Amino acid sequence: MSTVVKSAPSRPATSARSAAPKLPAGLFSRRTALIGSENAFRIGPQIRELESRGLKVIKCNLGEPDFPLAKHIADEVKRQIDLDLTHYCDPQGILPLREAIARTMSARRGLKITPDRIVVFPGGKPPIGLTQQTYCNPGDEVIYPSPGFPIYESFATYLSAKPVPLHLREEADFSFTGRELAALITKRTRVIILNFPSNPTGGVVSAEQLADIANVIRRKAPPQARIYSDEIYEDILFDGNVHRSIACEPGMAERTIIASGVSKSFAWTGGRVGWAAFPSAEEATVFRNLNINYFSCIPAYNQMGAAVALESPLSAPEMARMRAAFLERRDMMVAGLNAIPGITCRKPGGAFYLFPNIAGLCHDLGAIAAHRKLPAALRARTSPATLVQMFLLWNYQVATMDRRSFGRIGSAGQHYLRLSIATGLADLEIGLLRIRAAAADHDGFKKFIHEGQHLC
Ligand SMILES: Cc1ncc(COP(=O)(O)O)c(C=O)c1O
Repeated sequence: MSTVVKSAPSRPATSARSAAPKLPAGLFSRRTALIGSENAFRIGPQIRELESRGLKVIKCNLGEPDFPLAKHIADEVKRQIDLDLTHYCDPQGILPLREAIARTMSARRGLKITPDRIVVFPGGKPPIGLTQQTYCNPGDEVIYPSPGFPIYESFATYLSAKPVPLHLREEADFSFTGRELAALITKRTRVIILNFPSNPTGGVVSAEQLADIANVIRRKAPPQARIYSDEIYEDILFDGNVHRSIACEPGMAERTIIASGVSKSFAWTGGRVGWAAFPSAEEATVFRNLNINYFSCIPAYNQMGAAVALESPLSAPEMARMRAAFLERRDMMVAGLNAIPGITCRKPGGAFYLFPNIAGLCHDLGAIAAHRKLPAALRARTSPATLVQMFLLWNYQVATMDRRSFGRIGSAGQHYLRLSIATGLADLEIGLLRIRAAAADHDGFKKFIHEGQHLC
């Protein structure tokens, strides 16, 4: 049986949208037009449309471990619901969870973090925007990795702060040097975001690099600049890599916000429990008040589940199983992608993403030339890698993410895709076969561009 599904038949557009009343001009604030998005969620409806036509989509787009929540964690959540822990609770996060976070975070990093410095959020994502909102006035600068988690750039723009991308270089295994960071720090720098292991590249940081980065921050960053260390992939490391936090470098604990959560480490994206440790209890109180303003509190039964996840001896073997599966998939996929003409892929040291360079493929398929010929307005909304991404999705039913989805500013001319390996090995093998077939389908690509239906 062939695993490759050719060109999806198109359907007439649904009329549900066009029936909606026209919205008045000026309905939305100017700020609303500035916020970006996370495209991993945006392509969901396109995938569902393909699936509704009976096509099997290989989902390499999702940043969500494909493992069930471990039984001991699920049991604790159910137990707490039965105990009626279902009411409002401490907006900062319930004390048993903050104590568990403080203990595990301190032990792992050799730091002394107290529960009064911890704030619990609905996932690892909210503290990203709230941090920028809290420390930046309009015009203040936010330095963030690019390619990086899209919310970093999206929020800086939304808040009229100045987004300052720190471009990660493939040759440096998607890391950066202190000198590269130093060139971006100014008097207006207020937040410096670091993310190791990284989404979307899987890059990790060496002890020397981290010391170099800390040295630059100590020398050059203004005293009001906070480091936001997004450590949500701290448990997903391969090849003997160990987790390193900038907070452990001399003089850094006093100015670093350490963020993490249950979504990746415990395959619990639906639990919506994340947290951050702030440099001072005063700062934590400011974020507690933001929580009160935005959502009051996080379900206490999930927080109790998170406390068990962090400290139960049953969690380590579950994480080890997950890591072993990611490792097997990573090795299979890196080898498979490197065997496809036009694609080169580095072996990531952590997280569960591959970030292949598809410059050769963009060139071979004619995506670069096709992009150049698009009308200006459309050209600005897409890229050669996006055209390949869409071709893979609509003609070969492999869902991936393009480079633009991980920070737009300065991304032109960079031809990469992100493939999540949070999908079973058998499906990934099918995905590889489909990508290989797509890479050779010059006529199909030409036709896809000519039809022009899904170019961004
Ligand atoms: C780097 C990074 N930070 C934060 C998050 C947000 O995690 P959560 O789902 O817990 O909000 C993600 C999710 O993909 C991520 O990749």
